[in-house]
Amino acid sequence: MATLKILVVDDEPGIRSGVTRILRNFRVDYPFMDEAFEFEVLEAPTGEAAIEIIENNIPDIMLLDNKLPGIQGIEVLEYIKKKQKNIVVVMITSYASLELAVKATSDGASDFIPKPFTPQELKSSIENITKRLFLKNMTNKLQDSGKQIRFTFLSVLSHELKAPLNSIEGYLKMIKDRQAGPKLEDYDVMIDRSLDRIKGMRNLILDLLDLTRVESGKAKRNVTEIDLFKIARTAMDTMRPYAIQRDVTLKLNGTSPLFIQGDAEEIEIIFNNLISNAIKYNKDGGCVDCNIIEIGKDIIIEVKDTGIGLSSSDIEKIFDDFVRIKNEKTKNITGSGLGLPIVKKLIDNYAGKIEVTSIPGQGSTFKIILPINKS
Ligand SMILES: Nc1ncnc2c1ncn2[C@@H]1O[C@H](COP(=O)(O)OP(=O)(O)OP(=O)(O)O)[C@@H](O)[C@H]1O
Ligand SMILES: [Mg+2]
Repeated sequence: MATLKILVVDDEPGIRSGVTRILRNFRVDYPFMDEAFEFEVLEAPTGEAAIEIIENNIPDIMLLDNKLPGIQGIEVLEYIKKKQKNIVVVMITSYASLELAVKATSDGASDFIPKPFTPQELKSSIENITKRLFLKNMTNKLQDSGKQIRFTFLSVLSHELKAPLNSIEGYLKMIKDRQAGPKLEDYDVMIDRSLDRIKGMRNLILDLLDLTRVESGKAKRNVTEIDLFKIARTAMDTMRPYAIQRDVTLKLNGTSPLFIQGDAEEIEIIFNNLISNAIKYNKDGGCVDCNIIEIGKDIIIEVKDTGIGLSSSDIEKIFDDFVRIKNEKTKNITGSGLGLPIVKKLIDNYAGKIEVTSIPGQGSTFKIILPINKS
């Protein structure tokens, strides 16, 4: 059993003893953790007392009220930041100072719990933090064992998931607090933005599943004779609603059918990613051409767009995990930067190659060369 120390800093004795009581017999345990976590609660009535405790007995988690009799919560937060103390800080605050709590989040607090909170709200927040600490600890261990790449991967991943979660949480709290007044329609923007962020997270998770499947090498591959045209058509049908939205025309060229030995699901992931990029980074009213041809011992698949294009230095980077090219033209386009790395790893399964040619402002061509595997 591991113990996490929680320091609760609040001038209201009721809050302090409440937290101690709620967490006394609380345990966090998941199948993926090798041991359960329990909690030891320390209490401080002022910011000054909190700093003294931090100096001698550093807590893992701090529940911090902002309105304190002497120095304010925000100043305690600054102190922790300056001294680079490794503490997860959660602001506990009344609804009235929600805005301040949001600001504190950008100053290093990792979460906030509005007061008054129920035992369940406190427990679920502590549970999430415990999971996060566990993950962080695990990634540290991985880093120690030299697995730097995994570490970077996991840190970027947690960051990518944290940003949309914070934003959705912020919106939900504003809605719960009726911050925009009594009219329902005044909340539409917040709801739409939250839905957008959820969509982004879902895509990221789907990409991750693909990547894990490819990287673990454990997934059973199902190699049979498959028609590339049939799979390309399926992918185009999947992407068509998106193309219509952007007024982009999709064309499939070549002599159908063309059979290869392959895993239909893998090939579909390749088409889905290249076609979705060709639509996403296109101009409104643009065109996507997918050409499939057999030349000698190779099959060439080309996905050509009339979009924003890529510079040669961009092309060198885009097959790395999480890379997204940031510029004026891409700033409103969302994505996780995992599509192309997945495509590249899948093509490796076929001993194939992928090449990119592009003219910025005019369009890009992604060309896959697959050696024909006649077995
Ligand atoms: N057809 C294209 N035209 C111009 N830029 C492209 C094209 N395809 C990819 N890119 C650039 O390469 C980056 C990486 O692409 P990738 O598909 O890996 O990620 P993404 O599209 O951002 O996210 P997702 O994981 O949702 O696919 C993109 O962010 C974009 O900047
Ligand atoms: Mg993509």
